[in-house]
Amino acid sequence: MITLGSNLENVKAIQGPQNQNPAKGVVPVTSTNDSKNIDILIGAQWGDEGKGKWVDILSEKSDLIVRYQGGNNAGHTIYVNGEKKVLHLLPSGVFRNKACMIGAGVVVNPVVLQEELKNACSSGFEAKNLWVSGRAHLITPWHIHLDQEFEGRRDKPIGTTKRGIGPTYSDRARRIGLRASFCKSPERMATWKKQMSMLEPKFSDFLETNSEEWKAFDKACTQIAKQVCDAEARLRKWAVAGKSILIEGAQGALLDVDHGSYPFVTSSNTIAGGACASLGISPRWIRDIYGIAKAYATRVGEGPFPTELNDASGKHLADVGHEKGATTGRPRRCGWLDLVALKYAVDVCGINKLIINKLDVLSGLDTLKICTSYKKSADNDASPWMEACEAEPNYHELSGWKKLSEKPNIATADDFSDETRSYLAYIEKFLDQKIDRIGFGVDRSSFV
Ligand code: IMP
Repeated sequence: MITLGSNLENVKAIQGPQNQNPAKGVVPVTSTNDSKNIDILIGAQWGDEGKGKWVDILSEKSDLIVRYQGGNNAGHTIYVNGEKKVLHLLPSGVFRNKACMIGAGVVVNPVVLQEELKNACSSGFEAKNLWVSGRAHLITPWHIHLDQEFEGRRDKPIGTTKRGIGPTYSDRARRIGLRASFCKSPERMATWKKQMSMLEPKFSDFLETNSEEWKAFDKACTQIAKQVCDAEARLRKWAVAGKSILIEGAQGALLDVDHGSYPFVTSSNTIAGGACASLGISPRWIRDIYGIAKAYATRVGEGPFPTELNDASGKHLADVGHEKGATTGRPRRCGWLDLVALKYAVDVCGINKLIINKLDVLSGLDTLKICTSYKKSADNDASPWMEACEAEPNYHELSGWKKLSEKPNIATADDFSDETRSYLAYIEKFLDQKIDRIGFGVDRSSFV
């Protein structure tokens, strides 16, 4: 029988005025201050685990919600009062009008940001509550062009979202990137374009032939300039002042550029440890690490996916789970829950609060399978994701269920059917970890 933690209630609601800078000079900001009011929430699979809903739930008790990596390749879906909202760049806390931050490790498309900000403001968000780090790098029309062109030329495409993510991170590493702080200075922007024309042979032509796109880009840069600040310095002050902070990951641990199935990964560090580097905060400040996994598995784009299903069960998961990319609209590949991969994500990220999501999608399947090992492993010490593996799974079979529960309202995990509880208990036993929360529907209230 599973016992669920009650940490959600324990998340300390910090009292005091919100959405203001904390009093200056109250507490000196040093990494030796024991903050411990910062939680990280990440995807524990290949993205699309349903992070938006959980950030929305957890952010009720947070003062500040922070994105730390990725860009508008992400698509976070939230249902607010039955209305579907999709965010690509803004943290999912905007619908609670909390302070929201886009940190240094994020790549920002200003046109998308401006559009999302406008929409969020029409739903009650106040623009002054958005802090965009001046250190974040901007995705320009040039980077989007490069992403599209590169994908077309690869012999084995990665299946990127073609949003310019990889080329923007690549220019950051080459130290020719355009930082958000440049939005405040048309002169610096012009100097950057001049430099690019010298460094990249095709840049000048691209600039000329796509002048409309550049105009829209320049305009959006001017519009978001007001939000650009030293967001990391503010974040550290808020942390030391005891504010409650939630850091929101994008994509998932198995798409991490270093620890995922390279090269079929995104271009940032999606694992929990990436948050500290991207935001300039001490790892000592992190309290809990929430990892979200679906009760099954999905993957968008190319790359290894050992438990992928191309049969009626896979179709069931795709149809019932509405498994279509929120960003690109591409159908997601669907498969059984892979506990080998999930255990790896738990280990690499140090997940101590595991959330199993979309449990309802399994209802109606006669038999359920869970991957517990792979048939072929060249090196038993090596993690299965060391190389882009094409492993064949060994499965444990369990009975399915028609309905999650006979009760009209599910108030605790004890209300689930015997088969459902067996499925959850198997996950806990394999991972040697209690499941913290379980999601079984799209709206804010469907969880225990
Ligand atoms: P990129 O991040 O657009 O460069 O794409 C690299 C890989 O990550 C591709 O396989 C994408 O499908 C995948 N990817 C990027 N963002 C997401 C996401 O938010 N959810 C799921 N997969 C993603």
